[in-house]
Amino acid sequence: MIDLDGRDVPAVAGQTVAAALLAAGILVFRRTARGRPRGVFCGMGVCFDCLVTIDNIPDQRACMTLVRPGMRVSTGAAQAPLREETHARA
Ligand code: FES
Repeated sequence: MIDLDGRDVPAVAGQTVAAALLAAGILVFRRTARGRPRGVFCGMGVCFDCLVTIDNIPDQRACMTLVRPGMRVSTGAAQAPLREETHARA
């Protein structure tokens, strides 16, 4: 079991953080500065789309990190965009 944003998510030894999150139905791991969702893309440590905070260390690749007992993962996926996009009005 790992802690994901304050809730328990099942995980087994040898599994990556990304695999545990995907198995729990969690597809969005973070959001870009514009609020766009990001999750697993390459699954092999190349794209950096799966970055999460693990045990207070930011920007850890979930697809390359094995789960550990008591691990705390923060996605920041629920964060609002840093700025709202503006649209011209007619
Ligand atoms: S999914 Fe691409 S680096 Fe993790």
